[in-house]
Amino acid sequence: MDNLATVTIDGRVVKVPRGMNLVEAARLAGVEIPVFCYHSKLKPVGACRMCYVAIEKVPGVVTACTTTVTDGMVVNTKDPRVVKAQQGVLEFLLANHPLDCPVCDRGGECPLQNNTFGYGGPVSRYVEPKRHFAKPIPLSRRILLDRERCILCYRCVRFQKEIAGDETLTVINRGARVEIATLPGREFDSPFSGNTIELCPVGALTSALYRFKARPWDIRSSPSLCDQCSVGCNVRVDTRNRQIVRLLSRENAAVDDGWLCDRGRFGYEFANHPDRLTQPQVREGTRLRAAEWEEALYQAAQGLRQVVSQRGPGTVGVLVSPRLANEDLYLAQRLARAVIGTSNLDYRLTPHPTVSPLRPDAASGSIVGLEKARTILILGADPLNHQPVLDLRLKKAASLGARLIVVDEKQTDLAAFARLWLRPRSGSLDTLARGLVHLILANGQVNQEFVDRRTEGIDALRARVADDTPERVAASTGVPAPLLEQAATLLATNGPASIVYDRDLGASDDGAAAVLAATDLALLTGNIGRDGAGLYPLVRAANEQGALDLGLMPRRPSPPTPSPTGGEGGHAGCPAGGMTGAEMLDALRAGQLKALYLLGVDPLRELPDDRALRDGLTGLTTLIVQDILPGPAQELATVVLPGAAFHEREGTLTNLERRVQRLWPALKPPGKARPDWQIIHDLARALGTSFDYAQASDVFAEIASVVPTYRGLTYGKVGLKGVQWPLDVASGQEAGSLYEDPGDTRLAFTPVAPSTARIV
Ligand code: SF4
Ligand code: FES
Repeated sequence: MDNLATVTIDGRVVKVPRGMNLVEAARLAGVEIPVFCYHSKLKPVGACRMCYVAIEKVPGVVTACTTTVTDGMVVNTKDPRVVKAQQGVLEFLLANHPLDCPVCDRGGECPLQNNTFGYGGPVSRYVEPKRHFAKPIPLSRRILLDRERCILCYRCVRFQKEIAGDETLTVINRGARVEIATLPGREFDSPFSGNTIELCPVGALTSALYRFKARPWDIRSSPSLCDQCSVGCNVRVDTRNRQIVRLLSRENAAVDDGWLCDRGRFGYEFANHPDRLTQPQVREGTRLRAAEWEEALYQAAQGLRQVVSQRGPGTVGVLVSPRLANEDLYLAQRLARAVIGTSNLDYRLTPHPTVSPLRPDAASGSIVGLEKARTILILGADPLNHQPVLDLRLKKAASLGARLIVVDEKQTDLAAFARLWLRPRSGSLDTLARGLVHLILANGQVNQEFVDRRTEGIDALRARVADDTPERVAASTGVPAPLLEQAATLLATNGPASIVYDRDLGASDDGAAAVLAATDLALLTGNIGRDGAGLYPLVRAANEQGALDLGLMPRRPSPPTPSPTGGEGGHAGCPAGGMTGAEMLDALRAGQLKALYLLGVDPLRELPDDRALRDGLTGLTTLIVQDILPGPAQELATVVLPGAAFHEREGTLTNLERRVQRLWPALKPPGKARPDWQIIHDLARALGTSFDYAQASDVFAEIASVVPTYRGLTYGKVGLKGVQWPLDVASGQEAGSLYEDPGDTRLAFTPVAPSTARIV
């Protein structure tokens, strides 16, 4: 007996997995069963009764969403009893549902309208006045509730409980007075609240931002990405009258599972801001005045030339935002290194963290691969704050049976979902992580086959953690030894296991040593290189991974300069080691930098009270500010160049799992603003180079030709769903996991005493 059941639905015979419900089985057969409460990602509840079907040999009608298939089942969705029952359901729903469709945000894209049109009866027997409520009630500053429109499908409440796990919505009252509400005294403050707007099958839950802004037939939709964090959720940008009116999820199951966090969903207002920079500006005495592009680029180029010739390229700095697209970052580093001749180039203003010695510097697994993990160690990471939709994936993994081990001094959101929550004292994360290494070694829980075949340096590791006994670790971390034992045993014996940590953890000494111990744990237990067994250093900014991949930092290998389009002769004059962002800020404070090119970064926004920094910026001979909104540094600029927002340009971003994904232009940039890659290109030409990229895809083609991990990628291949690098060019297959292939090189345990290791 195979795992498939044969079902006949409206005369169509299909084989579907056993255990599947009839709504999904009918979809596979190409038959629609109307639903309200059913949603493929929520547990079926059978609340609305819209999905009635008739089943041979079963009396009456049954709800399809709560009925699973059995072999030989014969289903009829058009049986007269079904038609009558569905008409009755709709008649009941409309007894109180207002017919305010012309002013309802859902009008035109409303399942209740659609199902009434497709399955409702011609007349209603209910002529009594409908009930009325005060409307709308704000559940939060973002979400409004029109109670009389609610059809009590409970999708919203179920989403919050089952997916977001925060139970911020509930059901109050009984019988005809039942309502959806927030918990007493609380507002709807879930960071995922906006998903309920999309889930609500009527216009009961609507967005305060979108309300009365547009109708579905007068908006234009374009695929895009959220640029608020490194998850890279896929979005649909809806625009009207040259403005974004809303962002909706564009489901990419591998990345976002169809969800958005509120930061992403509602965080687009900066793009519509009336203060957007729309015109280049140049300094004239004490003020900035509008200029044409030619003049602004000429002035910027002249300023850079003057500083390079008089003070040397080492006095020029380039700071870029890790939210910029790969095309911008790649050209920015080419401009810095190959044209200006400086390696003072960075995407961070704070010191670089110590990172895992494994190369490449990236997550080894995929986001969806986490669902295969049986154990997940979450070490000093708080995805709810920094990568919110990844938080949902980790909760999903837990609901699928993964045991979460949270190691954090703070009670993070995930601690409530964890099998074990270990709370090391402040500054002792490294001791705890080494204690786990010690226990796995001492208890003989090492994956010896993996260690022998794939790794080197275990003897040095054994010696290094010899003193990190559970007793000592418990004494210095405050975590009881039995808890340490349980954590080590889960990690070593309940595989596949993944380890997730904040990449920025490595910025502190104890965090840095903990990061190195995390790599040791993965190697000791053989948990690397396959689905469910990955090491995930979580980057934070939308394209921080792209910045790492493309060498947007000093002291990391940069992509080689291609000859055909370059012509400016490689890295001539570019010193081997430049200043990091933090060092550039120090040099500014000391008056040692003479020119600075800021791309989407404003140090004064981060450090508004830093007088020495302000003085340093004021004292620059040339300060080029390229951004989309005005900021404090702009007031000191010699040249201001207006850039384009994420939905106004083409380009690619690389998310925290190495997935390269595309941006598409939904709107033109406002006024004379231009995409960042194009501005850098134009500035390089003003500096006398032969940069020659007609479009963003030309820049991407060059990236794919010079950056080994991006080899084989094209805009066409990246498509709507993205591709995880590296691509196997021969087979066209993307890599879900790094380190799958044993190859020749062995993976090394932490090479030196952690306190002295500095791997950036
Ligand atoms: Fe369903 Fe919308 Fe009512 Fe929530 S508010 S129960 S999603 S109809
Ligand atoms: Fe089946 Fe609501 S969709 S009962």
